[in-house]
Amino acid sequence: MKTYGIILVGCGYMGAVHLDSLYKHNRARIVGVADLRPEKAQEFALKYGAEAWDTDYRNLLKREDVDIVIIATYPSTHLEIAKASIAAGKHILCEKPIAGNMKETEEFIRLAGSAKTKVLVGHILRHNSTYQRVADMIRSGAIGAPLAMRMSQVKRTHNWESHLALLHDASPIVDCGVHYIDVMRWVTGAEVDSVSGVGQRLDAGVPENTYNYGMITMKFSDGSIGYYEAGWGHTMPSDNLKEFIGPKGRIRIIYKDQRPKSEQHLGNLIQFEHYPSGTREDINVDYTLKPTGVQFEHFVGMIEGTKAATPTLEDVYKAMQITLLADRAIHEGRTLSFAQPPIYAVK
Ligand SMILES: NC(=O)c1ccc[n+]([C@@H]2O[C@H](COP(=O)([O-])OP(=O)(O)OC[C@H]3O[C@@H](n4cnc5c(N)ncnc54)[C@H](O)[C@@H]3O)[C@@H](O)[C@H]2O)c1
Repeated sequence: MKTYGIILVGCGYMGAVHLDSLYKHNRARIVGVADLRPEKAQEFALKYGAEAWDTDYRNLLKREDVDIVIIATYPSTHLEIAKASIAAGKHILCEKPIAGNMKETEEFIRLAGSAKTKVLVGHILRHNSTYQRVADMIRSGAIGAPLAMRMSQVKRTHNWESHLALLHDASPIVDCGVHYIDVMRWVTGAEVDSVSGVGQRLDAGVPENTYNYGMITMKFSDGSIGYYEAGWGHTMPSDNLKEFIGPKGRIRIIYKDQRPKSEQHLGNLIQFEHYPSGTREDINVDYTLKPTGVQFEHFVGMIEGTKAATPTLEDVYKAMQITLLADRAIHEGRTLSFAQPPIYAVK
């Protein structure tokens, strides 16, 4: 079995999440790490036993023993790094969101679609066993349809510098929303018809043209509706709600760390209430917060021809298109619809 040579570009939070699961993986060899900040690149090289580190990832792309580039930098840099990596003949696993605007999104999708190497975008929830189980249950009719979906993910910032850098590229609605818009499309199998929303600047440091708290509502083509709430900031609570309500029941995901201490060893909890029987099922699901190892194995399957991209490029494109439309709805203060003449042309 081949071992894949890997370079990581972006030695921050998400870069560490990737390498934590790869540095001992029998199909992975960490060849090099790159970061604009030399101290971070050096720190990662030492921690994960990389042979090389650099402040310019292009120097590492020249190495023939590199098969895969993991891109874990800010969204505005993803396209440029993806282009250089594909031109160098490397496969890429790129963090979401692929870009901070529609122009770069379309260019990324075209690039990935025509690449001779494989491209996977890190929609990690597609590889998360809790969400896979919930999607299977809903798609097989466990709670009926149409749905009301309640999704919230707000967090108190522990690294404001990093959140500020992200805010310059993408609002929380775009940055985190791509995951949950993707989940809502996945579980319903339906498309978003229209979206509206509001945003708030809750910290003086937030760039004036954006917001660090936002909430959007969506109508879906099957009659389902959903809301998504996201925010990062010094005064934000850390809170999570993932709930799906249908005419035949309700499913709520309770993350391991939201459970009483005595139950946390059981993993995540899927609470399933059925109507009209009134039965309630508690399903414990073993869960790694971000299963980057499972995602990597899927990517290896894509490279070796045994697996298809999950999510597909179309899923990635749609998640970007919807979150960017939501962002625009917030800025313009009105409901925007996909049924109207094309707002962003799909090429
Ligand atoms: N999949 C998930 O669940 C998840 C979770 C968090 C973040 N992310 C995504 O991961 C990406 C990184 O976020 P993060 O939280 O790790 O940020 P971070 O600030 O912790 O790390 C980003 C790192 O990239 C480096 N960098 C920036 N531009 C670079 C360049 N051109 N070349 C080399 N290094 C560069 C920075 O110096 C920094 O060390 C973002 O796209 C974010 O949305 C995904």
